[in-house]
Amino acid sequence: MMRPSSSSSSSSVGIVFAVLGLALNAAVLCNGGITSSFVRQAEKSVDMPLDSDVFAEPPGYNAPQQVHITQGDHSGKAVIVSWVTMAEPGSNTVLYWSEKSKVKMQAEASVVTYKYYNYASGYIHHCTIRNLEFDTKYYYEVGSGHVRRKFWFVTPPEVGPDVPYTFGLIGDLGQTYDSNMTLTHYELNPAKGKTVLYVGDLSYADNYPNHDNVRWDTWGRFVERSAAYQPWIWTTGNHEIDFAPEIGEFEPFKPFTHRYPVPFRASDSTSPSWYSVKRASAYIIVLASYSAYGKYTPQYEWLQQELPKVNRTETPWLIVLVHSPWYNSYNYHYMEGETMRVMFESWFVEYKVDVVFAGHVHAYERSERVSNIAYNIINGMCTPVKDQSAPVYITIGDGGNIEGLANNMTEPQPNYSAYREASFGHASFDIKNRTHAYYSWHRNEDGYAVEADSMWFFNRYWHPVDESSSS
Ligand SMILES: *[C@@H]1O[C@H](CO)[C@@H](O)[C@H](O)[C@H]1NC(C)=O
Ligand SMILES: *[C@@H]1O[C@H](CO)[C@@H](O)[C@H](O)[C@H]1NC(C)=O
Ligand SMILES: *[C@@H]1O[C@H](CO)[C@@H](O)[C@H](O)[C@H]1NC(C)=O
Ligand SMILES: *[C@@H]1O[C@H](CO)[C@@H](O)[C@H](O)[C@H]1NC(C)=O
Ligand SMILES: *[C@@H]1O[C@H](CO)[C@@H](O)[C@H](O)[C@H]1NC(C)=O
Ligand SMILES: [Fe+2]
Repeated sequence: MMRPSSSSSSSSVGIVFAVLGLALNAAVLCNGGITSSFVRQAEKSVDMPLDSDVFAEPPGYNAPQQVHITQGDHSGKAVIVSWVTMAEPGSNTVLYWSEKSKVKMQAEASVVTYKYYNYASGYIHHCTIRNLEFDTKYYYEVGSGHVRRKFWFVTPPEVGPDVPYTFGLIGDLGQTYDSNMTLTHYELNPAKGKTVLYVGDLSYADNYPNHDNVRWDTWGRFVERSAAYQPWIWTTGNHEIDFAPEIGEFEPFKPFTHRYPVPFRASDSTSPSWYSVKRASAYIIVLASYSAYGKYTPQYEWLQQELPKVNRTETPWLIVLVHSPWYNSYNYHYMEGETMRVMFESWFVEYKVDVVFAGHVHAYERSERVSNIAYNIINGMCTPVKDQSAPVYITIGDGGNIEGLANNMTEPQPNYSAYREASFGHASFDIKNRTHAYYSWHRNEDGYAVEADSMWFFNRYWHPVDESSSS
């Protein structure tokens, strides 16, 4: 029962193995889908030491570091540029110009600092640049005098139903040698995204004594090589909570919210933990697994009002990002996403969400289109069933952080699980037009162009047919 939607995955796996001259066992077929026969060598994931090349501070007194950008409004005409200066506030100005006009413009940042236990942050600058032109390359400069640093980004095309656009998916990255492999594979993938959808758990600084926030700084320097050039859309994970009453730290999400601003007000949200953005032909809803979502809570009320606002004529692709997966067949964080699933799953079916990306479990898994919404506590109907209005659920918490790989799976593989594999990697979601998007997952052990799992997505609103029966 190898479905057509998964067949390309096993064939590309086969090619790699043939090239490597290794024996390939057939994928193990269980009650459910495919448990990959690829077994990644089990070894400890080790954080890169502080003196690693990827953590080097840029040269020059007070040089801007940890430069990163994210979308700054609801439709993609604004960008938030953030950077840190360590010694003093320094210049607050971002100089920017489009490749077309070359006329230099400037925007002013605000500066924040925070303390966390015995750590005092550098000067964290955030600057929203507005009224950008769509589909345009901009250069920008931060810093002053001898320590000016120049970067660039490309704005997305104007929002519209048939605008092709490619998103990268990364989760639970951390800062190990494996994290560096994941980022390198993302950068060198020929199908590389233009924007990263990041599903939470950034630095893993909280694994250090007193949540050593120096590891937030090293992470910022590590990802700058990508995050300064393309927006990363942020989701909060449990490693962003940093709630540590034992050391007097009572404010949840303090380091994260000081460092990684998001445009939540542009989608009428009251919290940076949940919000939405439109980008090209996609509508992206970011949810918060670690903020209240029960009935009557702000997040619940917001999502209830948000879903009817999505105009699928304008943005056919409806993508949800959340940290804790709702469908997960690994023996890690099992059922942790269950309470949120109970609250929101029927809405996702009603509004035909195309795909839900989650992290948290440090492995890869893709579900069938299933829903589990019939249960009412007395009817016993509590089995996930095939449902063509339901999203595909993808766990992509395989960035490679210090906590290592999740390789213990529930057996047999449940039938809602289409493909699962305990490897590190990243994915890309390549929207072709309003009806078709091509999804692929890439493991770190393969060549940059190799796809270990892939699937054609047919849009739930414009092309609501079963992918597996007609591809
Ligand atoms: C991280 O990856 C980059 C790009 O492949 C490489 O240049 C660098 O040396 C790596 N650093 C470490 C510490 O592995
Ligand atoms: C939805 O978007 C389309 C295309 O932009 C537009 O013509 C239409 O008026 C919008 N519908 C609503 C209800 O706003
Ligand atoms: C899984 O199997 C159960 C019991 O046989 C069935 O009711 C259900 O529809 C199946 N789900 C999927 C996603 O195939
Ligand atoms: C895998 O997880 C199950 C359930 O938590 C546990 O009983 C089992 O011992 C684990 N197996 C290994 C090899 O750790
Ligand atoms: C949408 O993209 C798919 C895949 O590239 C293509 O087969 C299809 O013809 C396109 N549809 C339109 C209307 O261009
Ligand atoms: Fe997590």
